[in-house]
Amino acid sequence: MFQATFNPYRPSALAWPKLDASSLQRITSLPIWDIAVQTEGKARLRMAAYARTVADADMRRALALNAWEENRHKEVLSKMIQAYGIALVKDAPYPYPKDAEWAYLVTGYSECVDSFFAFGLFKVANDSGLFPPELIDTFEPVMQEECRHILLFANWAAWHRANLSWWKRIGFELKVFAVWCFLGWERIGLARSLDADGNKQAQDNNFTVHGAQSMTSEALSLPQLMQLCLSENDRRFSGYDKRLLRPTIMPTLVRFALRFMKKKKAA
Ligand SMILES: [Fe+2]
Ligand SMILES: [Fe+2]
Repeated sequence: MFQATFNPYRPSALAWPKLDASSLQRITSLPIWDIAVQTEGKARLRMAAYARTVADADMRRALALNAWEENRHKEVLSKMIQAYGIALVKDAPYPYPKDAEWAYLVTGYSECVDSFFAFGLFKVANDSGLFPPELIDTFEPVMQEECRHILLFANWAAWHRANLSWWKRIGFELKVFAVWCFLGWERIGLARSLDADGNKQAQDNNFTVHGAQSMTSEALSLPQLMQLCLSENDRRFSGYDKRLLRPTIMPTLVRFALRFMKKKKAA
């Protein structure tokens, strides 16, 4: 699947439409570009490092291609940043991971979380009419590629689990649990560092909603946004082979949270 659905687009051939002053301001002021560029760079390194440790040739090739595509995302972002004159902080060098499996798990599960929200935010941006359709079209393959990446990750995880002996499996599950604890801690830390940088978002722990609010002129409630993330998630995965496993953690958590939000509203 991963090789067959490869999209050969080239970042250097992408067109960056001229933006009117308000769209340009809206895009350049989103406080996400530094972290987006760094995340792609880190993901490339971590995926490539883990791919080198995989003995199975097909899986190794798929993971290496995924790493290559992360670097292509970084190039797309760099081109956009150049085209629109977005100022970035200097990119620190990425350290080679000491534990490649840990680094891959952190990156893989992070992508599952980020992509889930990105699908919804992208839909908000698309429906708002505030951005030129050409710009939306340019990012569409990147967005779908992240869907494909987390699809690979979910199936890699199942394949990896199936190949582990029971005692190694226990160690792996503990590692996965530790990864989720780390991600929770990292995201709280992330929200704080955005604050410390003088970011004007009033509550950074609600960044998804504030992010959504800067992409549309319509009022958007948190349950509405979550619903949108869920439906976009389903839509983006609908075209792939039914036998492939889908990532389930984020959709399950958000469905659970939505039930709670609806109850609270009804009370
Ligand atoms: Fe990426
Ligand atoms: Fe990715």
